[in-house]
Formats: sequence, C-alpha cells, structure tokens
Amino acid sequence: MSVNLDIKRVTTHVLQEMKQRGEKISMLTAYDFSMAKIVDEAGIDIILVGDSASNVMAGHETTLPITLDQMIYHASSVVRAVTRALIVVDLPFGNYQGNSKEALNSSIRIMKESGAHSVKLEGGKQVKESVDRILSAGIPVMGHLGLTPQAIYKFGTYEVRAKEEEEAKLLIEDAHVLEDCGCFAIVLEKIPAKLSERLGKEIKIPLIGIGAGSEVDGQVLVLHDMLGITREFSPRFLRRYANLHKEIKSAVENYIHDVKTRDFPNKKEQY
Ligand code: KIV
Repeated sequence: MSVNLDIKRVTTHVLQEMKQRGEKISMLTAYDFSMAKIVDEAGIDIILVGDSASNVMAGHETTLPITLDQMIYHASSVVRAVTRALIVVDLPFGNYQGNSKEALNSSIRIMKESGAHSVKLEGGKQVKESVDRILSAGIPVMGHLGLTPQAIYKFGTYEVRAKEEEEAKLLIEDAHVLEDCGCFAIVLEKIPAKLSERLGKEIKIPLIGIGAGSEVDGQVLVLHDMLGITREFSPRFLRRYANLHKEIKSAVENYIHDVKTRDFPNKKEQY
C-alpha cells in the first residue's frame, strides 16, 4: 500500500485511525515552500518543520541556535504549500523548558503566526507542565523521546539511547506521561528496536520512529538526508532515496560551462 487517496486532510484523529487499522504513517521534514509542495503532493502524512532546520538550512552544528521567529518563518512557508499533510512544528530550544507559560506563549505564536496544526517538544516528565499547559489551550502536542538533539550537550554523543534497562525504564515512564497528558503521537529517536516493540505494546498513541526499528506506527527522516543533499551524516538508520548533491552539482557545473562557452542563452532562449 502506498498513498491513501481517501484521506483528504490528515488530522490527529486520522493518525489514530491509521494506527488502529495498522496503516503505517509517513513523516518527513520540510522547511520551505517549494520542498513542502513536492512532499505534500507525493502524499506524505505528516510534515515536520523540524528544528533540524538549524543544521540543514542554517548550517549550525546543533539544533540549539534556531529561534522562535526563525521557526515561525519556516513554518509559515510550509503552511502556504500544503493541502493534505498534518503540519507539526518544533518548539525551539529555550522556548518551553522550565517555564510552562513561555511554552504556551511560544506555541500560540507558532499556531497564530504560521497557521501550522500542532507543535512538538522534546522530553518527558521534565516538560509535563508545559505539555499540560499547551494542550489546555487546544494545541495538539507531539512528544519526542530517546535521542533528543536539544540535550546533546548533556548526552555528549549522538549514540543510541536507552540501551541499558535503567534508561529504558525511564523512557517507558516518560512515554506514559506524554500519553496520559494527551499527546497525539511520540517520536522515538535512535533507540533499540526491541524497546520500541515493548513501548508499542503499552502505548496507544502513534509512535513514529527515526532509528527506532520497524515495530513502530510510522517513520520519519530529515528530507535533506534522505534526498542525499547532505552527505556528511550517515547513520545506520538513514536510507538515501536520491543523490541530489550529485545531481544539483552536476546541473550547476553544466550551467557554468554553458555560460562560459556562450552556449547559453541560444537564439531560442532570447527575445
Ligand atoms: O528536527 C527534526 O528534524 C526532528 C526529527 C529528527 C524527528 O526532530
């Protein structure tokens, strides 16, 4: 089965129905109008305006520097392109941790100024108060557990998380906290497949994996990674579906050649 053409607009309810009937959920990131239009036309279920924009769009080493204003700029560009997918926007680092009022205000700004449909944040118990407050305003929230890149300086590495039972137990507790709060889905990043399977038996909301194995309800990848635009990042879980770095570079080289040799523009390409 590929794209479900019966779904005209993906909502959080549609995702829950997809989980119940065992239909896998597809999710990719997008940060701009042109790419979001292609991804939506292809039939993706969820578009994540991820704070990975900090890496792939702005060239930062981590996701920490991106600001709320920058996330809103990316999200509003995506919203203008999309007619079918559910749009989720990452709350940036520093705009929700430790202050639930700021978490709510940041989420309201994202919803009002971009027109997106929901927000995502990283963490479990530590962000419970923020999640509760955002949900109380009627804003759908997606959780994110496992490798949470905004905490990279605490982890120290991008290695697989929760390999040991102690950390696995804490992660399961966090997943229950997010589900009990009313989150509509949880992203699980870079955890053992066996742990995802365990979670799948206990958690009733959709679990979307990135490096979390096949026993989850859906998969997410960073668009620029799966299209082969970025090359330096090659974790085991990443499947590349194109080599756009090569394609784009070769197109640009051909263009430069044609300009330098006066081949472009030819007689038919001018007025
Ligand atoms: O920002 C992002 O792209 C993400 C995905 C890795 C899930 O959070």
